[in-house]
Amino acid sequence: MLKPQLVEFMRRVDKNSVAIIPAAREAVRSHDTNYRYRQNSDFFYLTGFEEPDAIAVITPSQEKKFTLFVRPRDLEQEIWNGYRAGVEGAVADYSADEAFPINDFDEKLSEMLDGPSVLYYAFGHSTPEMDQKIIRQLTSMRESNRKPLEPPATIVDPTSILHEMRVLKNAEEVEIMQRAADIAAEAHVEAMKSVHPGMMEYEVEAMLEAYFRKHGASGSSYTSIVGAGGNATVLHYISNQDQLRDGDLLLVDAGAEYKGYASDITRTFPINGKFSQAQRDIYDLVLKCQMSCIDMVRPGVRLEDLKTHSIEILTEGMVELGLLKGDPKKLIEEKKYMQFYMHNLGHYLGIDVHDAGRYYFNGESRPAEVGMVMTIEPGLYISPDTSRIPDGLNKEIPEKYLGIGVRIEDDVLVTEKGARVLTHKVPKDREEIEALMAK
Ligand code: GLY
Ligand code: MN
Ligand code: MN
Repeated sequence: MLKPQLVEFMRRVDKNSVAIIPAAREAVRSHDTNYRYRQNSDFFYLTGFEEPDAIAVITPSQEKKFTLFVRPRDLEQEIWNGYRAGVEGAVADYSADEAFPINDFDEKLSEMLDGPSVLYYAFGHSTPEMDQKIIRQLTSMRESNRKPLEPPATIVDPTSILHEMRVLKNAEEVEIMQRAADIAAEAHVEAMKSVHPGMMEYEVEAMLEAYFRKHGASGSSYTSIVGAGGNATVLHYISNQDQLRDGDLLLVDAGAEYKGYASDITRTFPINGKFSQAQRDIYDLVLKCQMSCIDMVRPGVRLEDLKTHSIEILTEGMVELGLLKGDPKKLIEEKKYMQFYMHNLGHYLGIDVHDAGRYYFNGESRPAEVGMVMTIEPGLYISPDTSRIPDGLNKEIPEKYLGIGVRIEDDVLVTEKGARVLTHKVPKDREEIEALMAK
């Protein structure tokens, strides 16, 4: 059976069209060894096919609507690198109407481009070689105007359709994403229970990732961030090589990739199991902000209004704590909160951790819709080094807050009734965290 996503894509494209969607290429890691292969997200979304060297061709008005070009079976290659579906498997297991060896693509391209009035192909998304191949073929067909050839007059980027489809998840995708969220949440709980002063950041990283793999995830959905103390104030800290010190906080931002879908969780907790007063001040403010934003999620709420809400809560809180001085309204106008809250409130989540799809239409922020999955992840980051804070040298930042970085991140599904928190299995309430760590 065709994937429902492919059926829907065919419904949305121009009928007299051909769509050409290439798979991801293998990527060299060093010399002659590759990174673990990951399929192109759009290709995976439409076909579920996870091998490299493949191209999907979709022609909705023709009898054979779905063609796959794939690596042919090859015993010698399969002994070294594993099983291939081959042209037979592409038809039998991936519902292609027909399949050909990948090396036949060039020869068949002229035929495929002759007739359809619209070509769906995303220039700049695949490789320059693939782009050139399409351009050369189109050019040669245009030049041959004394032959009865009809190359497509219109070229459309298929991601304009695909990425909009990917914004709204169907029931099956939600079920997979719930599992991705559960695995990551359970891993975070294990990490919280094991952390103690003297451990290394990379040990925590290893523990999380072992849990992911042990529970069926293909691995992490992005490089884990395990930042102790001041490292938590570096937004994309991934070296994870320092020691965990008594009295510091640990920020853990890690998610699992399960059946091709991502989860993305951040928790921040005290390395010795007890929050200090200064850590509490910051933590409680970020948590209040995060929960209030989650409460606000419902169909129709504009994504930018959620961000504005987070800015208001954090700015007012920072004034109360003495991190910012002045009138909150004016501080917001002047974007002074960006000294300590410099990223967005969240992002779509799906096959990509920062998932595809538009956030604005005609310059207007998009309203949330049932079926969207997104993260809600406010944070405050007060570098231990005031020279790294814009204006920091000129400001009296209460010393007790220097070196504290807190982010709290959950994944939420927008439902009719509001947000369903997919990552609810890992605690974020301060007392709950302390009780868990005391066990
Ligand atoms: N871990 C990437 C992010 O939170 O957006
Ligand atoms: Mn995130
Ligand atoms: Mn994250």
